[in-house]
Amino acid sequence: MKIAIGADHAGYRLKDELIPFIQQLGHEVVDYGCSCPDSVDYPDYAIEVCDKVAAGEADRGILICGTGIGMTIAANKVPGIRCALVHDLFSAKATREHNDTNVLSMGERVIGPGVAQEIVKIWLETEFSQGPRHVGRVNKVKAIEDKYQLHP
Ligand code: RB5
Repeated sequence: MKIAIGADHAGYRLKDELIPFIQQLGHEVVDYGCSCPDSVDYPDYAIEVCDKVAAGEADRGILICGTGIGMTIAANKVPGIRCALVHDLFSAKATREHNDTNVLSMGERVIGPGVAQEIVKIWLETEFSQGPRHVGRVNKVKAIEDKYQLHP
């Protein structure tokens, strides 16, 4: 898959550690920054990554900030994006199976690189269940975008 990745100044170290790991899993990674500790604004990086996923230019997106929370809030404002904040393996699997999330968010100040690698691996490898219950619920989420005329 083609993976778009981005981070703010509180997440770029974990991003830079994860990129070779994701490549070793066999994926193409496009890095949208940032790449240094100078203070930046997480929404600027969330929208870069999420625009690519929403447009189909990337298959999935990964976002990292200090907590992962700001990135998640910003990402879920982009029509077509279903972003989950994940810091455990159970949620990494469940959010693919149940929510068909296309963007993963994590907090560098919350988890270490070992757990982050395992989360990324299971999130990339797990398929959406396609079960009617989950498809129906994801469609209801899309209907919320329609209600507020958010589809691109
Ligand atoms: C930056 O200090 C921090 O606020 C940001 O990385 C993120 O945690 C916001 O949600």
